[in-house]
Amino acid sequence: MNASLSTLKKDGQTLLWHGLALIPLVKAHGSPLRLTHLPSIGQRIHQARSWFKAAMQQNDHGGKYHYTYCLKASSLRCIVDEVLMHDCHLEASGSVDMAMIQQLIDQQQLPTDRMIMCNGYKTHDYLHAMMAMHQSGQVKVVPILDSQSEFHRLASGTQQNKEAMTLGLRIATMHDQTSRHGIAPDQVQSFVSDEVIPATWAKLVMVHAFMEGGMDGSEAYLRTLKGVIDCYVALKPICPDLNLLNLGGSLPIQDDLAPGRNQSGIIRGIVDLLTTTCREQSVDVPDLVTEFGSYTVSESGAYLFQVLDEKTQAKGPAWYQIDSSIITTLPDTWAKKKVFPCEAINHLDGERQMAQIVGLTCDKDDYYPEQNLPLLPVGEALYVGMFHTGAYQEGLSGYGGMKHCMIPAAKHLVIDGHSQVRVYAQPQPPEQMLQLLEGDSGHAEP
Ligand SMILES: Cc1ncc(COP(=O)(O)O)c(C=O)c1O
Repeated sequence: MNASLSTLKKDGQTLLWHGLALIPLVKAHGSPLRLTHLPSIGQRIHQARSWFKAAMQQNDHGGKYHYTYCLKASSLRCIVDEVLMHDCHLEASGSVDMAMIQQLIDQQQLPTDRMIMCNGYKTHDYLHAMMAMHQSGQVKVVPILDSQSEFHRLASGTQQNKEAMTLGLRIATMHDQTSRHGIAPDQVQSFVSDEVIPATWAKLVMVHAFMEGGMDGSEAYLRTLKGVIDCYVALKPICPDLNLLNLGGSLPIQDDLAPGRNQSGIIRGIVDLLTTTCREQSVDVPDLVTEFGSYTVSESGAYLFQVLDEKTQAKGPAWYQIDSSIITTLPDTWAKKKVFPCEAINHLDGERQMAQIVGLTCDKDDYYPEQNLPLLPVGEALYVGMFHTGAYQEGLSGYGGMKHCMIPAAKHLVIDGHSQVRVYAQPQPPEQMLQLLEGDSGHAEP
């Protein structure tokens, strides 16, 4: 076996994923197949909560931890419904996220105690949706200011409400000094004193610290986080409602952990630093918020492909031609050279060779680098799986829609908590693509 991961187990010659036999699925539904395993999402959420609980108890942190799911990691409705069943808050990045959240509210799927963290650049439509949702009082909307200009635009659009609008403030971290996100630390204090505190329509409740380098628990990460905690400590005496520190996302998943690191150790290091710093400065320790996207959903996703053919050239390893595309299903393999665990799902004990998986498009980048895979058996099918693919791939590639070389989207199965398998989407029909390509030319502008 290539990958030794807790989600994958060998069962004779075949592979189990989350305990699920994969070969019967490809036999019943054909290939290529996309899989979404919903129970693993709840397991991840539960696991993170127990790491935070243990770290907070060890540090006598008597406050709360709020798990937030960011919709951008995957906005599939089955995933959002699953996340909400586990009492999560939501993070939005734009106006369409807000439309989805409003739909959830209208369908009574979103209890009123949930927070909606609004990150990202605030366009007119996005700000408008936040203000309308705040005024309706159906959920607690927390716009997270990325710049002073967002505050000014909110101020000019906000009507006087009984309830002040709760705000967060993203601090541009030194670690992120090339990042466009957040407000520079040396501008925070005067901005809050001169503009936010006098505004009767607003109250600052949250400081936000997302580090684009990832929540890796390294010395550099903790040094940067300390800078944000120092900002919190400086603001707290002048902002009595401030009681949340939002750590953002990017908790590494199992496959991305650096050697010698583990997620519980990373979380312990963060909570230790926070409680020690606050106590030294005699400031109440804030409640904690995270916005975990990839951690929540990565392990819930997989793709299964059939190897249709093998080709060898004068030099280099064999090419294994699959029945779909790597570049269109998993765009991060191309854009970020992201590695997804890859393993055959049958013939596991067969003799192996190094092979590159190649997609159906004619693009030279449509391949996955060399893997040690079973030889292509004569007269029998070989299937390969790409695992932990649940985050961001459909957002980048689009769900359905038009794809490079018009490769249709795979059939999509969803597995629920009772191991029931349901078809979420049929293989994409070519007519759907052709219709999209005709555009709206038949409809005159009003
Ligand atoms: C503000 C913010 N929060 C959370 C996330 C989610 O990060 P991840 O999916 O790595 O957990 C992102 C990702 O870009 C982000 O920008």
